[in-house]
Amino acid sequence: MKDFITGLPKAELHLHIEGSLEPELMFALAARNGVTIPFASVDAVRAAYAFANLQDFLDIYYAGASVLVEQVDFHDLAMAYFERAAADGVVHAEIMFDPQTHTDRGIAFGTVIEGLLSAMAEAEARFGMTSALIMSFLRHLSEEAAFETLVMAQPWLDRIAAVGLDSSELGHPPAKFARVFAAARATGLRLTAHAGEEGPPEYVTEALDVLGVDRIDHGNRALEDEALVARLAASGMTLTVCPLSNLKLCVVQDLADHPLGRMLAAGLRATVNSDDPAYFGGYVADNYRAVAKALGLSRGDIVQLARNSFTGSFLPEAAVARHLAAIDAYVAVA
Ligand code: HPA
Ligand code: ZN
Repeated sequence: MKDFITGLPKAELHLHIEGSLEPELMFALAARNGVTIPFASVDAVRAAYAFANLQDFLDIYYAGASVLVEQVDFHDLAMAYFERAAADGVVHAEIMFDPQTHTDRGIAFGTVIEGLLSAMAEAEARFGMTSALIMSFLRHLSEEAAFETLVMAQPWLDRIAAVGLDSSELGHPPAKFARVFAAARATGLRLTAHAGEEGPPEYVTEALDVLGVDRIDHGNRALEDEALVARLAASGMTLTVCPLSNLKLCVVQDLADHPLGRMLAAGLRATVNSDDPAYFGGYVADNYRAVAKALGLSRGDIVQLARNSFTGSFLPEAAVARHLAAIDAYVAVA
């Protein structure tokens, strides 16, 4: 018997595909590609996943990505995620990828994206799961480097839904990427940015005012600014919240203190997501279950979170309506 959360139709909106690289696949790809990784065993990799902050994690995450070399590696990586997500009731996934993590070590942009696109087509054929790509710029690198990435992406722009902004937040405010986000917007791409994970509420405001984002990834620290919370609620801005990530990266000390409950109470369009599930100890349903238990969320809250995942997605209106009707049908009998 599937539990209520697993069976509930949901979208995942905040998932770094490189962060779904499980240690077993990391070892298999290292062997297949003759890449040396600084770990003796799968257990040693898992033991290294103790992070005090975002940067601790990013150092290991970028090192792990070095095993991804061939197009088939990106396909296998994404396929492993889609299988796991399908088992969790995900029917639509908007996945981020970090091209610079790969192009900076000599992997062609086309190798990365064609591997992901073929897995996306296979996920739709096998699981009926739709998906979209979010091309994320690494914010610790320059805006010029982000522009170079946007140029490389040119032949595939019709296959990319949005651009994002990730990596080390502190010291790299959204405004650093004002021009490249404007250029991305001009080509018809949607916009999202990590803000307020470790960075201050001002970074959330900047992402809205300077970048003009369509949604905010994380956004936890927005709660420190009452006027900002009112603005986010009034505008129906989506926040892609990642409870187990926040716990693993010490953004919260205890899930019982997680801001998701306060976000819902404030009328914010919060969603639940896994971020980097191979590193943070759970896929999307694990995140729903953990935060629901820690905060005592009601069945109504859980349904609201799933509804928000579709209303906050980049899907066309008709598809959103279809998914919301599927939630209603599920809730009526579950
Ligand atoms: N924050 C910033 N950058 C990232 C993350 C995150 O949680 N995961 C992968 N890149
Ligand atoms: Zn993230």
